[in-house]
Order: sequence, then structure tokens, then C-alpha cells
Amino acid sequence: MKTFTLDLGHGKSQIWVGENLPMRLKKLNLGPPTRAFMVADTRLKRSAQLWIEQLRKQGWSVEVRWVRASENLKSLMQLEPLYRWLIQKGADRHSVLFAMGGGTIGDAVGFLAGTYLRGIRWVSVPTTLLAQVDSGLGGKTAVNHPLGKNLIGVFHQPDAVLCDLGFLKSLPVRELISGLGEIIKYGIALDRKLYEFCVKKSSHGFLDLLSSPKSVESLILTCLKLKAAAVKKDEYDRKGFRAVLNWGHTLGHLFEAETGYDYFRHGEAVIWGMRGAVYLSVLQGLLPERDAAQIEKFLSRLPVPKLKRPSGFAKRWRQLTHDKKSKGGSPKFVLLRGIGLAVSDQKVSPNQVKETLAWLHQQKSGVK
Ligand SMILES: NC(=O)c1ccc[n+]([C@@H]2O[C@H](COP(=O)([O-])OP(=O)(O)OC[C@H]3O[C@@H](n4cnc5c(N)ncnc54)[C@H](O)[C@@H]3O)[C@@H](O)[C@H]2O)c1
Ligand SMILES: [Zn+2]
Repeated sequence: MKTFTLDLGHGKSQIWVGENLPMRLKKLNLGPPTRAFMVADTRLKRSAQLWIEQLRKQGWSVEVRWVRASENLKSLMQLEPLYRWLIQKGADRHSVLFAMGGGTIGDAVGFLAGTYLRGIRWVSVPTTLLAQVDSGLGGKTAVNHPLGKNLIGVFHQPDAVLCDLGFLKSLPVRELISGLGEIIKYGIALDRKLYEFCVKKSSHGFLDLLSSPKSVESLILTCLKLKAAAVKKDEYDRKGFRAVLNWGHTLGHLFEAETGYDYFRHGEAVIWGMRGAVYLSVLQGLLPERDAAQIEKFLSRLPVPKLKRPSGFAKRWRQLTHDKKSKGGSPKFVLLRGIGLAVSDQKVSPNQVKETLAWLHQQKSGVK
């Protein structure tokens, strides 16, 4: 079990990564037992039970609400019954919310914690690989609006992030690949050594990267430390340091949005988005072609669903300019200067994006 602290001055998040965390609850310094309100993924009824038992054993009182994880949960309407539940059960400022599930539950319950009584404490218990390496940490919480994803949210840091490797055993392969997409994102954008490790260890198959608990633990820790460093420099995402974590996401979000959020897993869309961002980085004269060819060779082996038939470019460009990350009507991209050297806030022309999308649509993915 490994731990580190993200200290933001106004508060701290303690991060734990390892096996059998519920059996080691005492060590996790969650503070004096109080009332816990746990919102957990219905799929996890069995594995959550151990957490509930162990929390109770330590003196916590635990109320549980089971919810279905999906992008639909991230809406003000779906949160209404959860606010009602907290009010009726008398949750107060000393209560702690636990979000046990993937990124959708983390985002929604983090938002619930950040807004109920103007903010109560919360503990993030991410259960997908994607949530363990990325969304579980950093305090970005949000729900969606019919006009766009993650448009309503608050920054609200969790007291603790508890990444139990046991959860990953029941994850379907597609969810693992989606999480690997984010891991690879960290490598290519920020950490050449991580990228090279991923290339080397996946020569016989990507799941080899996740074959031993030690290797998974170290991948999760590496990613969370990279994320924590960016969050520490730029908690509110205004200075560009945090924006580099969005490498591959501008096009990725477009591909998710135009397929209604139910065709791609988030990390799969990001894998396509990264391939596009590599191409764009070359078009912009930033990335040497040799590096681009190497990255493209690697990314194109990942088994992700095909890109769907494109809508017209004008519509896609409009969608890109509505992205939260756009400025003054033109989308800003995170591009690469080299492997591990992402740069944010790059302006690109409509023609460059059009050429990139046309190229991307001719490419295959590693799906059999
Ligand atoms: N806040 C952030 O910084 C941040 C960063 C990246 C992504 N996100 C958000 O995260 C969301 C995607 O997260 P996700 O991919 O984890 O999605 P998710 O929460 O929908 O989980 C994916 C699927 O896995 C299932 N599942 C969860 N844990 C499981 C387990 N241990 N075993 C078996 N099945 C399990 C869920 O029921 C669901 O069907 C998106 O809404 C995205 O916007 C947020
Ligand atoms: Zn992401």
C-alpha cells in the first residue's frame, strides 16, 4: 500500500493505492468516525459490503444509496433524490459523503458534496481504472446540462482518495483499455519514461501492463502524482498547467458528444483524440515526424471501436468552438513538442482540423 498527500494550502487530500484497503481502514487516517453517507454503484454491491462492514466496525454509522452508473446520473435531476435523501436523513456539516464507483459517480457525488450545505467533506473511492488514475483525484466535480457535458460544477477536493486494486478485478476489458488510454495520455503528454514503459511492456498485448498488482499500483501512483503536481500548480485550471492533462481531449470530447456518449468509453475517445492531436502537432510544425510516427504506431494498436461516420465539418467545428476549453470562439488544443512535452493553449486553423479529421477517418484502430 502506497500513500502521498496533495497539499493545496487550504486543505489536503490523502491518496492511498493498494490491495485490501477496507481491511486496513485504521491506517488510512480518515479522521474520527462520524456519519458516512455512501453513494455506491449497484454493480458493486458485493465488494462494497466489506467496506460498509469495516467502516461500521471502526465506529462509523453508514447510510448507503445504490445508484446506476452512467453519464445520465450526472444531471441536476438525478441528484435531486440524493439531496432529498441527505436532508431527510439529517446529514450535517460533520457528515462525510463517500463516492464509490467510476468517474460518473465520482463527478456527481463530488458535486453533491460540494453543494450540499455549501460543501461537506467527501471521500473518493474510485472503482474503475480510469477513475483511479484520473478522475478520482483533483476536485473537479460536475454534472451535465442538455447543452453540454460537465457545464455545471464546482472545484471541491476530497479528503481522501482510496484506490483499492481489488475493484479492478471485475472490470470488463473495454473499461481497462479506457483506463489505459488515460495512463498513456499521462506518458505522452508529461512523462517520457512512463510512455516508454507502456510501449515496452505492451509488445505482446496491452493487458500485460496490468498483469501484476505491483505494476498496476505503480502505474496508478505515477499517474496520480503527475496529476497532483498539475493540480497543485493550477488547482482552478486557469494557468495552463492543468490544461495539459486534457491532451487528446478536445477531439476526444467531440467524438463522444457526436455519438451520444454511449458509443465510446471516455478513454477510447481520448485514444482517437490523441492520434488526431499528434497529427495536428506535426501540421503545426511543433512535433518532429519521427516522434509522431512512433506514437502513432503505438496508439493505432490499441483496440478501440472505429470512428463513426462524420457529421459535416461545419457542425463539428461549431461543436469544437463550444467546448469549455475554447477561447474567443476558436478551439484551443493541447499539442506536443516532443514525447512528454505537451503545450497547452495552441491555436489551430479550421483547415488544419479539417485535414486532421479527414486523415483520422482513414485510419484503422487495433480492434480485431
Ligand atoms: N473529474 C475529472 O477530473 C474527470 C476526469 C476524467 C473523466 N471524468 C469523467 O469520468 C466519467 C467516466 O468515468 P468511468 O469511465 O469510470 O465511467 P463509469 O462511472 O460510467 O464506469 C464505467 C462502467 O464500469 C462499471 N464499473 C465501475 N466500477 C466497476 C468495477 N469495479 N467492476 C465492474 N464494473 C464496474 C460501471 O457500472 C459502468 O458501467 C465521465 O463522465 C468523465 O467526464 C472526470
Ligand atoms: Zn479524460
